[in-house]
Amino acid sequence: MPAKKSPPASFTAPGMSKRDGAEVATTLQDRLNALNDLHLTLKHIHWNVVGPHFIAVHEMLDPQVDAVRAMADETAERIATLGSAPVGTPGALVKARTWDDYSIGRAPAIEHLGALDVVYDGVIEAHRKAIESAGDVDPITEDMLIGQTRQMELFHWFVRAHLESSGGQLSTGGAEHESTAAKRAGAAARKSA
Ligand SMILES: [Fe+2]
Repeated sequence: MPAKKSPPASFTAPGMSKRDGAEVATTLQDRLNALNDLHLTLKHIHWNVVGPHFIAVHEMLDPQVDAVRAMADETAERIATLGSAPVGTPGALVKARTWDDYSIGRAPAIEHLGALDVVYDGVIEAHRKAIESAGDVDPITEDMLIGQTRQMELFHWFVRAHLESSGGQLSTGGAEHESTAAKRAGAAARKSA
């Protein structure tokens, strides 16, 4: 059974209505789920990457894991600051999430990077939506999410730079699903080898 939802506290951030505080916290809970999912997924890739580019990708990912874990921590603490109880258990995350589990196991670096391009795309797009909705009532949360998005967009570029041609095309070719992106990136790498 997933963790029980705790009742809201008797306070929120000064100058905000309790209703707004609770609404922003709900938006942040979804982002917390996404960030916890992302740092676990990044570790999964760190452990499962194989092939000639193993060490570069294996080592590139650990600082991203650390940064995304720090983002999850600040997001959870913002939820508590707003008077709601952050939920950080795996069962609750799986029950609440609207996206599929990362589907690739042991695979060449370039295939994982193709899939990770799609993963970052989804998380960043949802973060931008959260920036918009939180920004209407809480610029402090908006500022936090902007900082996180800036950092994730940089990491996304680190990933994409591996997939990019000198003409600026991505080998994933706009694939919307991880496994398709992985296949396309893998095929493009074999072709150019
Ligand atoms: Fe490690």
